[in-house]
Formats: sequence, structure tokens, C-alpha cells
Amino acid sequence: MRNQITLRQAGPQDAEALIALMKQLDDETDYLLYESGERPADVKEWRRILSGDTGDLNRTFFVAEIRQGTQGTHDTQGTHDPNGPHDLRGRQETHDPLGPQVTYDSKDRQETRAPQGPLAGYLEVRTMDWKKVQHRAYFVIGIQKEWGGKGLGSLFLEYLERWARERNIRRIWLTVIADNHKAVKLYEKAGYVTEGKHPRSMKLGEHFVDELTMGKWLGAQEK
Ligand SMILES: CC(C)(COP(=O)(O)OP(=O)(O)OC[C@H]1O[C@@H](n2cnc3c(N)ncnc32)[C@H](O)[C@@H]1OP(=O)(O)O)[C@@H](O)C(=O)NCCC(=O)NCCS
Repeated sequence: MRNQITLRQAGPQDAEALIALMKQLDDETDYLLYESGERPADVKEWRRILSGDTGDLNRTFFVAEIRQGTQGTHDTQGTHDPNGPHDLRGRQETHDPLGPQVTYDSKDRQETRAPQGPLAGYLEVRTMDWKKVQHRAYFVIGIQKEWGGKGLGSLFLEYLERWARERNIRRIWLTVIADNHKAVKLYEKAGYVTEGKHPRSMKLGEHFVDELTMGKWLGAQEK
């Protein structure tokens, strides 16, 4: 049996698992803001953030939770394992666009239960309630290397878009290091366009690198 993947909003119960995921991501990739060990990892603080107590900036986290299959072995480290990461792109479509192996769980953060398995990735979306900017959302995404290239990034963006439309958010945007081609391709494929370039905006090791702003307009074609 294959793993079941649930995309859902994270709640305070997910603090420990999310910290572990973020630590792993910061060890694995240079393309997120934090270098290895820099990211705040206080459980109490993360419980507060995940319960929605974040002041003027609303921070919402979605997570991909892996529920391991019940047949065969349970070693998710190896791709030879029938329960290991599999390609989600060929999934059969049902009336739910996320398909049968992937569940879209629309419960909000207060209703979520503790994780039923490891987290393969997360997406954080930031919004503000001020009238002039409440139509826009900024996001960051990170997926474990082991689960990369299998369609999870695209699923997260579908989830985000659905979540945003339900809240009448019209513009979704992000920043990305210009040479993070994988991520740029993912966003372009999902309909995001490059809006600007910030020269030497970040420093990777000894090298300054450019960042791009990319965005997607969800509303009708109007100003
Ligand atoms: C970038 C990232 C989010 C992509 O997620 P993903 O789950 O691998 O993406 P998907 O499998 O849904 O692939 C979507 C598209 O991205 C592109 N892509 C994915 N893997 C790729 C690779 N190895 N090389 C080139 N393009 C790739 C492809 O266009 C792909 O579409 P296709 O499969 O139809 O060709 C993920 O690799 C990641 O979290 N990386 C580390 C952190 C990071 O860079 N975050 C972004 C910060 S802005």
C-alpha cells in the first residue's frame, strides 16, 4: 500500500514536527532564508506562532503529512521501498483535484490533531488585515529533498490557491533566489510571472546572488 499524503493547516500540536522539518531543510538547502542552525527552534514560541498569535502579521502554515502504508516495510528513506516517496504527478483525478492518494484537509489550525506521521514539507503564507493590503499573500515553501520532484510543490500551490480564493485574496507573491531554477520552474508552471529583480540581495557563502519577485494575480484582468 502506498503512503497517504494529507495537506492540511498546521496547529500548535505540530510544533515539534515542524521544527524538525525546518531543521532538516536548513541543513539540506541554501535556498531558504536560514543557514543551518540559525532558525529559531523554541517549541513554546512555535506553539504560539502556530496557534495564530502573531500580531499584525498573520502567519499560516500548511504541512504535508505522510501516513505510511500498512503493507511491506516502513523504511521511508529508500525510494526502492514500496512505502517510500512516490511520484504524485500521475495520480488519478477525482472530483477532488488533489486526487485519491492526497487528501485536502480544510480544517483550521485549532481543529488539527497531532501529526500522524512525518512531515515531508511545508508552505507558510503571510497576510495582513489592513484594508490596503488584505488582498495579497506572500509565501515560502520547503520540501524535503527525499520528496522533491514528485509533484508535492505543485500540490501545495494548488492548496494555497484554493485557500486564497476562499478568502478573496487576489495576489499571491514570493521572492526566490534567481538561480533556484527548480523553484522558478515550479512557479512559472503554476502561472507566476517574474515581476522584478533585486541585485545582490542575498549572500550564499562568499557570493552575492540576485533575488526575483514573482507573483500571480488570481482575480479578473483588472487593475
Ligand atoms: C523548489 C521546490 C519547492 C520544488 O518542489 P517539488 O515538490 O520538487 O516540485 P514538483 O515536483 O511539484 O515539480 C514542479 C515543477 O518544478 C520543476 N522541477 C521540479 N524538480 C525539478 C528539477 N530537479 N529540475 C528542474 N525542474 C524541476 C518542474 O518544472 C516541475 O514540473 P514537471 O514535473 O511537470 O516538469 C523544492 O525542491 C524545495 O522545497 N526546495 C528547497 C527549498 C526551496 O528552494 N524553496 C523555494 C524557496 S523560494
